[in-house]
Amino acid sequence: MESIIVRGGRRLSGEVRVEGAKNSALKLMAASLLAPGISRITNVPDIADVEVMSEVLSVLGAKVTRVDHALTVDATDITSFVAPYEMVARMRASISVLGPLVARYGQARIAMPGGCNIGSRKIDMHISGLAELGVEIHMGHGFIDAIAPAEGLHAGHVMLEFPSVGATENLLMAAVVARGTSVIDNAAREPEIVDLIAFLNGMGARITGGGSPTVTIEGVESLHPVEHAVVGDRVEAGTFVVAGALSGGPITVRGFDPAHLELVLQKLRQTGCRVSLLPDGVTIERTQPIRPVDIQTLPYPGFPTDLQAQFMALLAIAEGNSIITENVFENRFMFADELVRMGADIRIESHHALVKGVAQLSGAPVKSTDLRAGAALVIAGLLADGETVVGDIYHIDRGYERLVEKLQALGADVERREL
Ligand code: UD1
Repeated sequence: MESIIVRGGRRLSGEVRVEGAKNSALKLMAASLLAPGISRITNVPDIADVEVMSEVLSVLGAKVTRVDHALTVDATDITSFVAPYEMVARMRASISVLGPLVARYGQARIAMPGGCNIGSRKIDMHISGLAELGVEIHMGHGFIDAIAPAEGLHAGHVMLEFPSVGATENLLMAAVVARGTSVIDNAAREPEIVDLIAFLNGMGARITGGGSPTVTIEGVESLHPVEHAVVGDRVEAGTFVVAGALSGGPITVRGFDPAHLELVLQKLRQTGCRVSLLPDGVTIERTQPIRPVDIQTLPYPGFPTDLQAQFMALLAIAEGNSIITENVFENRFMFADELVRMGADIRIESHHALVKGVAQLSGAPVKSTDLRAGAALVIAGLLADGETVVGDIYHIDRGYERLVEKLQALGADVERREL
């Protein structure tokens, strides 16, 4: 098994470019199922989750090809409506084929996603929302069976209990071809949702209100293929920006819209970092000790849960105490134990983490507990004393393209090695 080995202490500097957003690319691939013909998606990151989604689409009968960062999906002949357990277990986002399949083909059979290491991650809102559009759902024997009425889906008014990203996406992908005008209230507002809406509108859908809590979808008869570039990955960008803050920088991170990290950058300024905005990224530099800040994760435009671990690594060496509150996922603090192994002083009380800054982290063998936590351990290692060996890096490969190479190009002493 490969590990990532980081030797801390080097100041990073230079420029790094982020890829297209994982959390958008996967949904755009699923949305391609909505139209016969070949959709082309560019700026697709070369990561393991994209491979899994390609396999899911192939099992359904779509033809997926990929050249560098461009991917085509030919959804002309869909021959199966089943997303098998082996795939859904590898990647929960496989559930995003549910909406498009039931909308275009009237049926879908999706393995129920099992437990997950960042909380129970329920799917009740996907299910009840689709039911509002006329989908009949049966759950049993580990599968969700969804069937549309013979005359197709009808419009509905869905009020989400919580602005779930995945539920908003599945509902959008179903409502686009439902009869009548649907409304999703308390919809998720993430930039990846806005990207999906642009993709669907490019296919001929009529969706307005994207990026606001109320999205209106006027159903159309059918959709056509589209060509679309994936929005830049704000989470990958945030990870490098925090790496810059940890190691000093200056680092310039390009390839994304800095407005998508507004609150994160505001928090970084409060820690004493200097942040300058560019049209397609930011430059970050730190010349003084890190000041503590409190953060609480919330749906967009709140502080992203996907950057919580990276911030915990940063605040672990702040001059004082910070409180991190996790509001989006239960059980997303497992990372803290690994950071404590590196000398951090962190106490967890339910969904709050009290982080008492220490003067220095010390390199240690640690394990990625999930995708973002894995990346956070690597960047924590950048500043730790000695060698940090990060195991279970398959989590990191799910969502970061060439993380090690990109950090090396910034001057980090980091490598992948079979241990
Ligand atoms: C997506 C992102 C993930 C990110 C998260 C929140 C992808 C592939 N993943 O995950 O990186 O951290 O958004 O920004 O895009 N919930 C329910 N019932 C439901 C659906 C969700 O209770 O039907 C709960 C979940 O358990 C969780 C919370 O709502 O506690 C947020 O989930 P959701 O926004 O749906 O996240 P995902 O789409 O799974």
